[in-house]
Amino acid sequence: LRILLTGKNGQLGLELQRCLAALGPVAAFGRAELDLTAPDTIGARIREVRPDVIVNAAAFTAVDRAESEPDLAMAINGTAPGILAKEAKRLGILLVHYSTDYVFDGAKATPYTEEDVPNPINAYGTSKLAGERAIQATGCRHLIFRTSWVYSTRGTNFLLTIQRLAKERREIEVVDDQHGAPTWARDIAAATLRVLGAENVSLGLYHLTASGETTWRGFAKAIVNAAGLPTEIVPISSSQYPTAARRPLNSVLSNEKLSRHHGFRLDSWRDGFARCLSEFRDTA
Ligand SMILES: NC(=O)c1ccc[n+]([C@@H]2O[C@H](COP(=O)([O-])OP(=O)(O)OC[C@H]3O[C@@H](n4cnc5c(N)ncnc54)[C@H](OP(=O)(O)O)[C@@H]3O)[C@@H](O)[C@H]2O)c1
Repeated sequence: LRILLTGKNGQLGLELQRCLAALGPVAAFGRAELDLTAPDTIGARIREVRPDVIVNAAAFTAVDRAESEPDLAMAINGTAPGILAKEAKRLGILLVHYSTDYVFDGAKATPYTEEDVPNPINAYGTSKLAGERAIQATGCRHLIFRTSWVYSTRGTNFLLTIQRLAKERREIEVVDDQHGAPTWARDIAAATLRVLGAENVSLGLYHLTASGETTWRGFAKAIVNAAGLPTEIVPISSSQYPTAARRPLNSVLSNEKLSRHHGFRLDSWRDGFARCLSEFRDTA
């Protein structure tokens, strides 16, 4: 398989670049070579590479900034996936895309399934939902994986932020009323490889997150404990930590459909986190 990958410098893009090489040559592009806000460069790159699969790991992921830059978020997360999908449809190739738990409003008490009706409560979620719908509307062959709370050993993420703050402070206040599943970028990449490598790929929309759930405070506690730091993680509510974007209180996703159609699910978030930490040690 010849793969065209966008967003090669992002958390997920970096992992996919390495992981998908097992399937064939990966033509990987960062924003400088393939800018999703410039439709012409999208078509040009696709014509150059002539891929069998397009994997779109690029996105506008600054959730709070999306509130003040909704048009840019929509161009990258909403419009560009539709352009990739039109190209995929024209060429009869597969498009793999990633979406988010933030398409939901968080009012449900149990994990969200793919059947639940999205109702985003922030501009980022609205733009990501538009991207899903733009892809589906083209009728191209596609896989959309909704994931959540992505972290890795590189980039900008909660894990690295808490590790840094814990070294500087004796206590950190962290929100304890938002529930979700922290998911290691490498596990998402490995799952993508596993699905693409299967003989009969079952296409469509899938939730793909680590199993189990926690809160941001629960994740922060796991991070400081693993670092052996005495920093206290003080629970606060979302209302005590105002942000530009509202966030869903429950964004736990059910991975039942993935398990049914593809025969696997990701590890618990704690196991994924433990494996990610050993990666820090290996690269230290
Ligand atoms: N991060 C999360 O917690 C989270 C949660 C749920 C779902 N997701 C989804 O998972 C996927 C991967 O996210 P991630 O965490 O890997 O994100 P990330 O680390 O922020 O990476 C996104 C990449 O997209 C690139 N990009 C931004 N604007 C672009 C443009 N106009 N043209 C081309 N590339 C552009 C960025 O380039 P620069 O490096 O130049 O900025 C960056 O390398 C995304 O679809 C995201 O919506 C993420």
